[in-house]
Amino acid sequence: MAEDILLKAEKVTMQFGGLKAVNEVDMTIKKGEIHALIGPNGAGKTTFFNVISGIYMPTSGTVTFNGRDITKLRPHQVTDLGISRTFQNIRLFDAMTTQENVMIGHHTRTNSTILGTMFHTKKMKEEEWKCYHRAEAMLEFVGMQNEKETLASNLPYGKKRILEIARALTSEPRIIMLDEPCAGMNASETNDLAQIIYKIRDYGITVLLVEHDMKFVMGISDVITVLDHGRKICEGSPNKVKQDPQVIEAYLGKEDEE
Ligand SMILES: Nc1ncnc2c1ncn2[C@@H]1O[C@H](COP(=O)(O)OP(=O)(O)O)[C@@H](O)[C@H]1O
Ligand SMILES: [Mg+2]
Repeated sequence: MAEDILLKAEKVTMQFGGLKAVNEVDMTIKKGEIHALIGPNGAGKTTFFNVISGIYMPTSGTVTFNGRDITKLRPHQVTDLGISRTFQNIRLFDAMTTQENVMIGHHTRTNSTILGTMFHTKKMKEEEWKCYHRAEAMLEFVGMQNEKETLASNLPYGKKRILEIARALTSEPRIIMLDEPCAGMNASETNDLAQIIYKIRDYGITVLLVEHDMKFVMGISDVITVLDHGRKICEGSPNKVKQDPQVIEAYLGKEDEE
């Protein structure tokens, strides 16, 4: 049913020179689901995220969010509509505390003008205050309230990735897109992450994730879309995807190449 659909990509193509990194991909993400996007390295997963989040304008095709065409919107407009993401590589300010890193995320959304900032207006102070408390709430949500004064550089690896999720949540998204959230995590960190993802979903936020850890993906996803060389080769439940000959072929073929 149409009202269940949150995000829809139709025939999305992203071409770099002669390479179609994403090639006529159709994808429908329903409200409230945990949807995974998988595929061998270079399949086009991150490029697809970049198209959805407005970093790239697709060569062709359309992206619709909540019934609205967002194909040509800029990243901040996409964020304002309710799409948030994390990146494959950690992007934190090492010399700032955990809390400051979350506040930086929220600052991009406050409305004070540069002049207002210079004169430190009442509005500005109110926004600072809100921003501070919002950051605290987000850290509590992901279970990092005890590390709010810790410098980002001193956090264990897994916590750095969780911190990025907390920061992405400050924009109050309707969907959060996570690019390889488990990368580099140990088993216990991966387990914590799964609990946080369930919590985000239970809170009403739809989750789209790119992940290589197959055990994780198979356990957490409602639906999986598989890309290979830019094309969608399979989509469905974890059980369906696991048994699909084309999917098996795509992964085995890749191992041979490497
Ligand atoms: N900005 C870009 N310019 C040129 N080629 C790119 C660019 N971004 C990605 N690619 C290429 O597109 C393909 C898909 O990359 P990517 O989306 O990062 O794959 P994945 O995230 O699935 O590993 C790769 O061949 C990559 O080299
Ligand atoms: Mg990638």
